[in-house]
Parts: sequence; C-alpha cells; structure tokens
Amino acid sequence: MLVHTLFRFLAALSVAVVTSASPSVLKLRQSIAPPRNWIDLGRAPSTHVIPLRIALPQHRFLELEQHLVEISDPFHERYGDHLSKEEVEALIAPHATSVDAVHEWLTGHGIQQESCDRSSAGDWITVHVPVAQAENMLGTEFRLWKHTQDGDVLIRTTEYSLPAHLDDHVELIQPTTAFHRAKGQRTSLHFSPTPATALSPSSDAMITVPGSGVTVNATCNATITVSCLKQLYNADRYVPQATKKNAIGLTGYLEQFANFEDLQKFYADQVPNAVNTSFDVVLINGGLNSQNISQAGDEADLDVQFGFGISSPTPGRYYSTGGRPKFTPDANTPTDTNEPYSNWLDFILAQKNIPQTISTSYGDDEQTVPKDLARRVCNGFAALGARGTSLLFSSGDGGVGDGNADPASQTCFTNDGKNQTKFLPGFPASCP
Ligand SMILES: *[C@@H]1O[C@H](CO)[C@@H](O)[C@H](O)[C@H]1NC(C)=O
Ligand SMILES: *[C@@H]1O[C@H](CO)[C@@H](O)[C@H](O)[C@H]1NC(C)=O
Ligand SMILES: *[C@@H]1O[C@H](CO)[C@@H](O)[C@H](O)[C@H]1NC(C)=O
Ligand SMILES: *[C@@H]1O[C@H](CO)[C@@H](O)[C@H](O)[C@H]1NC(C)=O
Ligand SMILES: *[C@@H]1O[C@H](CO)[C@@H](O)[C@H](O)[C@H]1NC(C)=O
Repeated sequence: MLVHTLFRFLAALSVAVVTSASPSVLKLRQSIAPPRNWIDLGRAPSTHVIPLRIALPQHRFLELEQHLVEISDPFHERYGDHLSKEEVEALIAPHATSVDAVHEWLTGHGIQQESCDRSSAGDWITVHVPVAQAENMLGTEFRLWKHTQDGDVLIRTTEYSLPAHLDDHVELIQPTTAFHRAKGQRTSLHFSPTPATALSPSSDAMITVPGSGVTVNATCNATITVSCLKQLYNADRYVPQATKKNAIGLTGYLEQFANFEDLQKFYADQVPNAVNTSFDVVLINGGLNSQNISQAGDEADLDVQFGFGISSPTPGRYYSTGGRPKFTPDANTPTDTNEPYSNWLDFILAQKNIPQTISTSYGDDEQTVPKDLARRVCNGFAALGARGTSLLFSSGDGGVGDGNADPASQTCFTNDGKNQTKFLPGFPASCP
C-alpha cells in the first residue's frame, strides 16, 4: 500500500526526540486522498488534547483465527470449545520487544508508562496528547474537518509517519486518517398515505413467502411486528431454553439510549408476555442513559424493542458507547472522537462474562475505514468470537448500494481519487 517513503530529519522535530535513542528518520506510514464529504476548516488548535490509539502487532493472531474456525464449525470435533479470556489474551498479546520499543519511543516524547492506557491483552496503548505533540510524534499536521451533510467535526490528518525502527512494533495509530463514524442503520420505515392492505389487523389469513414455503400472517405483508419476524425466520414456536445462562447484547453509539417506558408500551402492544421485564444498561466511554424521553434515540429504541422483543425472556444488556464526533473549542477538554468499535472492544474483551450473542445496527461505508484499521477491528471481533460470542452486524439498508434512498445523492464511487463507480460494502458487516 505504501507507494513511497518519506524521510524526515528528527533535527527538525523536538529536542526530546533528538535526545532519545530512536534512529533519526520518520517514515511515511499512511497517506490518503482528501476524504469525500469533509471540508478542511484549517489547522486544529495546537493545545487541543486528542487520543492516540497505538496498535501493537498481535503476534499469535493466526493461531487465534484457527481456533475460531474450528470451534465455530458444527462439524468440527472442537465445536463449542470456546477459549477463556486468558487464552485469548495470550494469543493477541504483543511481543515484549514491541511493548519496549513503543514505550521507549513514548518516553522520548516525555510520555511515561503510567499515563498510558493499555487494553486488557496489551495489544493497544492509548495516550492523550495535545495536537502539537501528536504532530511532532507523527510528522504531520492535524486539521479540523467538517462533514458537509451532518456538520460533525473531526480532528484528523491525511497522512502520518513513524520512526522506521517501529515498523515491526506498531501496526497503526488512530484516530489519524480514519474518517468513519458509527452511523445508525435505520429501517427504511415510511408511512403510506393509503393502507397497503385491506386486511384488518386481526385477520388470521396466511400467505406463503414466495420461494421459501414459509407461511406467515398475511398482515406481515404490510406491517412488520415481532411476531412477523419470528414467523419469517420460522422461529415462532421456539421457546428459549437457557434463560438462566444465556444473554443477548445490543450495542448503541452516539450517546444513544433506549427509553424504558417506550419499551413497556411496545411490549404491551406486541409482546404481552414480556410486559414488566426490562434490560441492563452498560455505559462505556461516556455513553448516556438519562431516560429523558425526548432524548431517547430512534435507533436505540428500535433495536431494543425488536431485539429484546424477539429474544424475550432471554436477559438483555444494552451497551451505550459514547464519543460523538463533535468538536468543542475548549483546549482543556479532550475531544474523544476515538474509533468507536475499538473503544467498545477494549471494554468488552476485558469482561469475564460476555453475552453469547451481540447485535449491532451501526456501520459506515467500508472505504472510509483505512484497511489496516479495519483488519485490526475485525481481529477484535474474532477474539470475541473465539470466546464464544456470535456477533451480528447490519449490512446496511440499501442492498449492494450505499444505502442512500435518494438516487440523486447516490455516492457509489471510490474515494481513492479515481472516483470509479463501485458497490460500497458496509463496515463492520464486511469483516471476514
Ligand atoms: C403484498 O403487497 C403487495 C403490494 O402492497 C402486493 O402486490 C402483493 O400481492 C402482496 N402479497 C401477498 C402475498 O398478498
Ligand atoms: C395475525 O396478526 C394479528 C395481529 O397481530 C393477530 O391478531 C392474529 O392472531 C394473527 N394470526 C395468526 C394466524 O397469527
Ligand atoms: C406490571 O407492573 C405493574 C406495576 O407493578 C402492575 O400493575 C401490572 O399488573 C404488571 N403487569 C403485568 C402484565 O405483570
Ligand atoms: C429533556 O430533554 C429535553 C430536550 O433535550 C430538554 O429540553 C429537557 O429540559 C430535558 N428534561 C429534563 C428533565 O432534563
Ligand atoms: C464522481 O463521479 C460521479 C459520476 O460521474 C459524479 O457525479 C461525482 O461528482 C464525481 N465525484 C467526484 C468527487 O469527482
């Protein structure tokens, strides 16, 4: 992927770097075309504090992947033989030499080990530094970028470099060149002025789903309910068997939360047996749960009502991860616009007990995620899979297109500077 290598002399950087033991060249690690739909507002304030997440190579990841494939295969003798937290961590931990090399580099920039956050397996190290220092460390310039449609503002760059001697010890550093966000994958819900069906809601006429032989309540042709979904997936007679042991998780981003009262109304209407049951809420990285009904999220309510409605009486857990991409021009407050999935993964992989199934209805175009980062995030999901969790991600609302309902604003073009017409898969749904 790197087509050229850029050398810069450390002498041009800070004195702290010159006095460190590092070799004296920076090498270009990544360079991207200016991101589509983002306007460059100029340089980021030098004193603004940003997080830098440093990915250290997971030196036995291929072994972990092999375990995952075997224990996930119903025909393999090891099917269901999930790994423990400790076993997974041993496979994704970095080499001590990488840890040492990264700490030596950070120390050279005046960042002591005590001020670093480490993921449970030690494969990610996070530091919070002012923009000026990040620029110095990465031989780059951070700028403010504003999204043309939703106005989100991110502090990002289109390239960054690292000392060449860190080639084998640092896989990537983000958020630098990653412009993706966790966007809600709403249903293409719309209200029809005329009823789509003449059937009364209590009709018990049945129809056959073309090409499948599955028979569903005829009202499902016009109105989707929990009961319709169960019928469509041929699971309407299934009774959950292990509600003392199993749990289902749903994830939410952008500070969204679901309203408990809304859920009771939904249950009263659609899942009477679930009335008066609720779910646990886990807040991560500044996630919110004020229960203020006018602040509850559409995506959160939708996911919780249908997700927990379908899986009831299996206990539900809702993970609300914060870190909305907004910029507050206050130099003393870190703007936490971390890569959303890495933050959630740090949290969940550190837990002893994880729900057996976790569903996520957020995503973004795959091409907005740098490939090396996409791979690392997918590896994190693989680590969860090895521990026995089935992960589900929405594949988008627009078939193979970009999910943009309005044909005039279709954006099925590559963002690599060539602007070729291309289908846009969603990330993380496209993880292998
Ligand atoms: C479902 O609805 C569509 C349009 O509303 C109609 O054309 C179709 O015949 C209906 N299908 C069945 C099986 O009733
Ligand atoms: C069809 O749906 C209606 C409304 O949800 C319900 O009252 C009726 O019992 C359903 N019929 C069958 C056969 O499931
Ligand atoms: C739910 O709880 C309320 C308040 O405790 C009670 O009045 C109501 O009967 C309960 N409903 C069901 C279906 O259990
Ligand atoms: C609930 O949210 C609305 C909209 O953000 C706000 O105006 C209102 O003050 C909030 N109510 C409470 C009790 O916090
Ligand atoms: C890419 O090509 C499409 C179709 O030819 C065009 O509408 C769009 O403006 C182009 N975008 C850029 C960034 O060149």
